[in-house]
Amino acid sequence: MQYVGFTLRNNLFVAPMAGVTDRPFRTLCKHLGAGLAVSEMVTSNSLLYGSAKTRRRADHAGEPGPISVQIAGADPTMLAEAARYNAERGAQIIDINMGCPAKKICNVMAGSALMQDEALVARILDTVVRAVPETPVTLKIRTGWNRANKNAVTIARIAEGCGVRALAIHGRTRADQYMGEAEYDTIAEVVSRISIPVIANGDIHSPEKARYVLGHTGAAGLMIGRAAQGRPWIFREIEHFLSTGERLPAPPVSEIHQTCRAHLADIYAFYGTETGVKIARKHIAWYTRGFAGSSAFRHAMNPLDDPDAQGASIDEFFNRLVETGNSPDNCKNRAAETLLEPAA
Ligand SMILES: Cc1cc2nc3c(=O)[nH]c(=O)nc-3n(C[C@H](O)[C@H](O)[C@H](O)COP(=O)(O)O)c2cc1C
Repeated sequence: MQYVGFTLRNNLFVAPMAGVTDRPFRTLCKHLGAGLAVSEMVTSNSLLYGSAKTRRRADHAGEPGPISVQIAGADPTMLAEAARYNAERGAQIIDINMGCPAKKICNVMAGSALMQDEALVARILDTVVRAVPETPVTLKIRTGWNRANKNAVTIARIAEGCGVRALAIHGRTRADQYMGEAEYDTIAEVVSRISIPVIANGDIHSPEKARYVLGHTGAAGLMIGRAAQGRPWIFREIEHFLSTGERLPAPPVSEIHQTCRAHLADIYAFYGTETGVKIARKHIAWYTRGFAGSSAFRHAMNPLDDPDAQGASIDEFFNRLVETGNSPDNCKNRAAETLLEPAA
């Protein structure tokens, strides 16, 4: 796919997820078939640039490009500065977050709350696009701020007019948070009204759903978030299905085991073992979710606080699954639809 001046392997994007889409996860998803992975959002508050968290979020060493960094904030000048700062540190695409309903973000009128103020949206987009003339700017939005105010088309037109190069839309309003089901009619309408690429997002959890959303919306690509948690190979599965019409078999338990272990090694290396062990817990929970005995396993695994013990407990869990003939195919709780949990 051609996307904002880059050639991507396909049109499948990893959704930005704070606390999840760190460098190890983005790199893994890219290896397993994602065309692009957007970073966790980086604050536009320059006072925090030096913090360990922000520095880690802006670390892309060794990650396959193009590197897309998401920035969040509400002040045009600060966002412009953040765009420049990240572009100077390796961001090849700057993505602006107007899609996140998190209280922490919305209370300061950033994230999806910005969609209420169309004039401010225009000022932000115009200022940021001008600040980084060499770097394409993309935008992530929701369908509106509540169901009575679905202004995605208006925002999309403003974005196109300001020189934003692509738009990702999550098919829920801000008021919906993560409740109900994502709808794709609004995304289809936006696609028909603007000429920059639109990436459809929300509740895409299987190859069949991916094909449906692409067909229904006419979007140029798909963005997948929660369904990739503990299942980063979903990109390979969707890529294969879209190009052949056939489903790949679910990965064998041994491959899930190996993928989980390699991912954890990367997490320990990236964060250091003390923080790494803590970050790893949620990923382990996702990899093991739905398998027989997984909740008892998580109970026993959670208190472990060194990588060797954590690794040994994972080995034991997966080896037992292999011995008892448990596989993702015969484990109905691991069906794709049941894996899409609301955000915390
Ligand atoms: C844990 C978590 C963190 C998220 N953080 C961000 C974020 O930093 N920026 C953003 O634009 N969206 C964020 N989102 C929203 C996702 O990018 C995506 O729009 C949403 O999860 C819907 O897609 P899905 O149904 O495929 O998960 C987050 C979602 C989750 C679950």
